[in-house]
Amino acid sequence: MKRFLIAGNWKMNKLIKEAGEFANELKAKNFSNADEVAVLVPFTTLCEVGSKLEGSGIGFGAQNVHFEKSGAFTGEISVPMLEEIGVDYCIVGHSERREYFGETDETVNKKLKALLAAGITPILCVGESLEVREGKGEQTFVAGQIISDFAGIPRDDAAKVVIAYEPIWAIGTGKTATPDQAEEMCAFIRGVFGGIYDNKAADDILILYGGSMKPSNAADLLAKNDINGGLIGGASLKVDDFAAIVDAAAQLK
Ligand code: PGA
Repeated sequence: MKRFLIAGNWKMNKLIKEAGEFANELKAKNFSNADEVAVLVPFTTLCEVGSKLEGSGIGFGAQNVHFEKSGAFTGEISVPMLEEIGVDYCIVGHSERREYFGETDETVNKKLKALLAAGITPILCVGESLEVREGKGEQTFVAGQIISDFAGIPRDDAAKVVIAYEPIWAIGTGKTATPDQAEEMCAFIRGVFGGIYDNKAADDILILYGGSMKPSNAADLLAKNDINGGLIGGASLKVDDFAAIVDAAAQLK
């Protein structure tokens, strides 16, 4: 049976009270596929969301982390700090972090290693800009990201990473990649990953699509062979929209 992960990326949204209410409402949905659902929330709401979701089967996690365990890194949060809260997931290399906060493939690679060593599942984001796609360079660009981001990571660790293909031109723009465009790139990524490791690892890895996924387009995207779920921004902020996407995945089981 196909495995899914439906992951909500709240970005810089929700205060503690609202986050707790959201988690309560999400838990109350009693999803049959709750173990394939997660929310990635601001650091300040992690404890609240984690405690409210306890026993629900729904995962939770952070949107970024520093690769060092501790030290003089003002304003940063380390892997042991996330471990202490008990997070299941952490987003790494989101395009907004790459664009606005100086994230590079080198720091992404260090973050993946640090998270994997702690048993936290990284959700690694890759994807090309509009300029790159218009120049037909998307495959070369994304393959380059995958190769650099996984450098030096052993096969069994690498197979635990969740990859999210998020074309930058589709994020928060309302402009979704068509199911065929998304499938083409997710299949391509699986091939690149299989080339670095092996076919079994490529079959096992979860590859998500992200970029304006919403209730109206989720079923068509999730039905594609190489798309194992979604990383959902805007549509993850309302419980009912997010739940509709979770249900769309459940229907495909
Ligand atoms: P979006 O964001 O669903 O609002 O396009 C997706 C993401 O950036 O992870």
